[in-house]
Parts: sequence; structure tokens; C-alpha cells
Amino acid sequence: IADISQDISEVLLTHEQIQAKIQEVADQVSIDYKDKEPLLIAVLKGAVNTMAAFSQALSIHANIDFMSLSSYGSGTSSSGTITVRSDLTTDVRGRHVLIVEDIIDSGITLDWLVKELRARGAASVEIFALLEKPARHEVKVDVKYQGFVIPDKFVVGFGLDYDERYRNLDSIAVLDPKVYQGEQEA
Ligand code: PRP
Ligand code: MN
Ligand code: MG
Repeated sequence: IADISQDISEVLLTHEQIQAKIQEVADQVSIDYKDKEPLLIAVLKGAVNTMAAFSQALSIHANIDFMSLSSYGSGTSSSGTITVRSDLTTDVRGRHVLIVEDIIDSGITLDWLVKELRARGAASVEIFALLEKPARHEVKVDVKYQGFVIPDKFVVGFGLDYDERYRNLDSIAVLDPKVYQGEQEA
């Protein structure tokens, strides 16, 4: 029987810990954007769970849109090239945009997106990133709302995948290296 938990070496953040952090950030955002009705933009697919939990934790009006970007393909490290798999349906001109992202690894995805949204005329662009992995940063990204800083281990769950699996885990966990060892030869 294929049980997800067999592929996990350690639970890093429980569902309760994730929810508590998201609520804390949402309370601050509800104050900061009180009169601004932010446009929340989630980067699919990884940010889908964070967006759902975060938007529900807000107490102010907010709009939601999605952009599907990919830099990882099926490996465990960034390819460095951003592919737009699908674009927003909202015109961001003059809008106060808050990007909702699951993780900042190299920073390449968000560095690209912040520049893109500014070029499209957004009035402001800020970031909420649930996870940040400082050990992997290649580009500096200004994160106004930070969730958890995590060690340099490949994590999955709460939206984060390895080769499209594990997104449906409700916690954030370290993937057992046995799952992806031999990835280079494959
Ligand atoms: C992952 C993750 C972030 C990005 C972070 O997305 O969800 O969006 O990589 O990495 P970076 O800081 O090095 O750019 P991925 O490209 O795997 O697509 P996905 O969200 O569909 O899984
Ligand atoms: Mn992503
Ligand atoms: Mg991914």
C-alpha cells in the first residue's frame, strides 16, 4: 500500500503550527491593508494551500488571482528559467498587490514576479512567503511578511511538491532522500 508517510523522514511544521503562523500574518495584513483592498496573487501551484488558509484568515476585503509559474520542472533544484504556465485575469495597474507564496528558495521566481508586476503598473507589490530557505538564496528578495525560516532540506506538503506529489499533505515535512536519490541518473 502506498502510504505518503512512508516517504517522510520528519515533520517540520504541523498543520496547527502553520495555521497559527498564517493567522498571525493575516492579522497584521488586515491592519496594514485596512483601506486598500489588496489583490492577493498566489503563485500556482505551490501557494494554493497558503492562499486558501491566508485569505480565510483575513478580516478585510481582498481580491484573489493566480499566476502559474514554474522554475523547477521535476527536479529538486531551480532551473533558473521562469515559465509562465498561465497568467492573471486581473489588470494590476494601480492595485496594491500582495504576492502569496509557499517558499522562497533561490529567490528567482519572486524576483522575476515582483519586477513583472511593477512593470505592469501595480501601485505597490509586497510579499508573504510562508517558508524561506536562506541557505539557497541567489537573488535578494524583500519579504515584508515572513512565515518560517527553514533549514536547507527538501520539504514537501501544504502545497509543496516533489515531482507533483505530496502537495496534499496537510503538514510540512522533510522528504526522505531515498525518494529522489538517483534523480540525476534518471
Ligand atoms: C517552487 C515553489 C516556489 C519556487 C521557489 O515552485 O513553489 O514557487 O519554486 O523557488 P525559487 O525561489 O528558487 O524560485 P515550482 O517551480 O516547483 O512550481 P510549483 O509551485 O508548481 O510546484
Ligand atoms: Mn511554486
Ligand atoms: Mg514545485
